[in-house]
Amino acid sequence: MRHSTFRQLEVFEAIARLGSFTRAAEELFLTQPTVSMQIKKLADTVGLPLFEQIGKRIYLTDAGMALQSSCHEIFESLKNFEMLISDMKGLKKGKLRLAVVTTAKYFAPRLLGPFCKLYPGINVSLKVSNRERILERLGENLDDLYVLGQPPEGLNAVYEPFLDNPLVVLAPHNHPLTGHHGISLKRLAEEPFIMREPGSGTRIAVERLFQDHKLALNVRMELGSNEAIKQAIVGGLGVSVLSRHTLALDAATGQLITLDVEQFPIERQWFAVSPAGKQLSIVAQTFLEYLRSATDQINDIPCHFAEQAGECPLTPTPR
Ligand code: PGA
Repeated sequence: MRHSTFRQLEVFEAIARLGSFTRAAEELFLTQPTVSMQIKKLADTVGLPLFEQIGKRIYLTDAGMALQSSCHEIFESLKNFEMLISDMKGLKKGKLRLAVVTTAKYFAPRLLGPFCKLYPGINVSLKVSNRERILERLGENLDDLYVLGQPPEGLNAVYEPFLDNPLVVLAPHNHPLTGHHGISLKRLAEEPFIMREPGSGTRIAVERLFQDHKLALNVRMELGSNEAIKQAIVGGLGVSVLSRHTLALDAATGQLITLDVEQFPIERQWFAVSPAGKQLSIVAQTFLEYLRSATDQINDIPCHFAEQAGECPLTPTPR
């Protein structure tokens, strides 16, 4: 491999990631014959083909897969080196790759605003997906940091809580149970319920609570989005349980209320997670430190929903 060049590895990595010679050529501002030539030379050096074409699609061979994982390590380590040098020069520069579960989208971008102002040299990419997909990304080590509603089970990871995440029962403002206190779980289970999709962390928490109390929910509908669920509640299709963070921008409408149900809110927390043993980049460490000190900025969720149920506004987790 000493005869392969850095450029060849760059070309290879782009093709493997994008699944296309043409798109790799575009991304790297090269012509397609140049890209093909670089890969041919690289495959000659390796002594085995790196890609195979079946129909119109290209696939990595076993040798290609092994090289892709080495490339990942090489480029990762070079990026970390660049960040280290910037840090030595007194600059915080580099890329921060964050992946957060769907519900964290209600506060993660608001946290990023001041962070990006503070560190203009840091570029942030934010992936938003449900818990199952975020756990897959964590397993594949695709990002720097992850935000999850509960620590990963069965995956070797380090995590720390940074903010409360209460799950509340939401209903339309004219629901017959409005104003009732201490509504039983059994009574709630009789209501038509709108459930998040399989793989959602919110759903796991709700199912666990009802299973623990040996109650079955009357699920009328499954929806893969907090926003769609809120619209469905307002439309009179049923009640649901969502994170109080999902109410962040809805306070003014007054169309949704929280019901005062026993066992609620389900007290959860948001966790910053990374794979165990991962050497966090300087940029990721900087964000983690910022996260530890900045959660009070997202504590301004209007609390008239909470007041109806006699609860307090969100408070940061004590450190
Ligand atoms: P979800 O995760 O958005 O996938 O439901 C949120 C959580 O785990 O609290």
